[in-house]
Amino acid sequence: MSSLAGPRLSRRIEAALDRALARAGGADAPPRLAEAMVHAVVPGGARIRPTILLSVARACGDDRPEISDAAAAALELIHCASLVHDDMPCFDDADTRRGKPSVHRAYGEALALLAGDSLIILAFEELARAALLAPERGAQLMMILARTSGMPGGICAGQGWESEPRIDLAAYHRAKTAALFVAATQMGAAAAGAEPEAWPDLGARIGEAFQVADDLRDALGDADALGKPVGQDLRNGRPNAVQALGVEGAVRRLEDSLSGAIASIPSCPGEAELCALVRLTARKLVPVLPVRTTA
Ligand code: IPE
Ligand code: IPE
Ligand code: MG
Ligand code: MG
Repeated sequence: MSSLAGPRLSRRIEAALDRALARAGGADAPPRLAEAMVHAVVPGGARIRPTILLSVARACGDDRPEISDAAAAALELIHCASLVHDDMPCFDDADTRRGKPSVHRAYGEALALLAGDSLIILAFEELARAALLAPERGAQLMMILARTSGMPGGICAGQGWESEPRIDLAAYHRAKTAALFVAATQMGAAAAGAEPEAWPDLGARIGEAFQVADDLRDALGDADALGKPVGQDLRNGRPNAVQALGVEGAVRRLEDSLSGAIASIPSCPGEAELCALVRLTARKLVPVLPVRTTA
């Protein structure tokens, strides 16, 4: 999926990521690990999470753009780290990501593990920097990102469910994917000094739709077009929406989640703009399907 951010948001996201990566590199850094980190982050995929984050921040006034930029970079760094680890042989053993070799294929497993770890740490360093400028907002951002990336309900939990004998599909999707979308909406609000508790539903609904779309693409898509392998869920025995609901059922679930997302946008000055972003996301998620998002 190509980037969802318009040119202005896209520039902000890329610049914030470049600044963070530059801090992690430089003359004192082991060059191959620094390169592996850049490989994991640039060029990006759709940058959907930081785009949603900055869009929510904007809808809430975005009075401290330096804080929302740091939050957007931190969130995307965590996402990129999760992809590096997810592709490793101990998880999905995927050879490609974003149309190029996955990090462990390009740099080996030791550097992939370290690149993922270093990106996670860099993400929290970004938020610590934000906390030096705006302590209350920075602490909230750290708390949200920690909760949505760790245990018991974040990405680590989602990946952890894959090692359990029985997996509840909804809990699995909520933790492995929707959690970072909840982070996107809540961090956008927190970065702009708004109340994050008004925003988890929108993120959860978009995240739910997003993972169902990813499961559909894994079952029906084309590896060259997607830039990553397909058929992975079947090969690795992962529970997924297509296996659980069939293709039509998965499409219905996707449409319901997107309608729910639109219905759950809190009232705020940027409501119409956010609604347009969710509709655009819907069109990009399943370009070939007639997605109903008219709730
Ligand atoms: C892929 O996420 C992993 C999932 C949670 C399904 P994206 O589809 O957002 O990946 P990029 O960042 O665009 O490559
Ligand atoms: C990835 O889920 C979610 C995380 C990285 C936490 P998948 O394994 O389904 O995503 P892809 O298909 O590899 O992008
Ligand atoms: Mg996986
Ligand atoms: Mg995977």
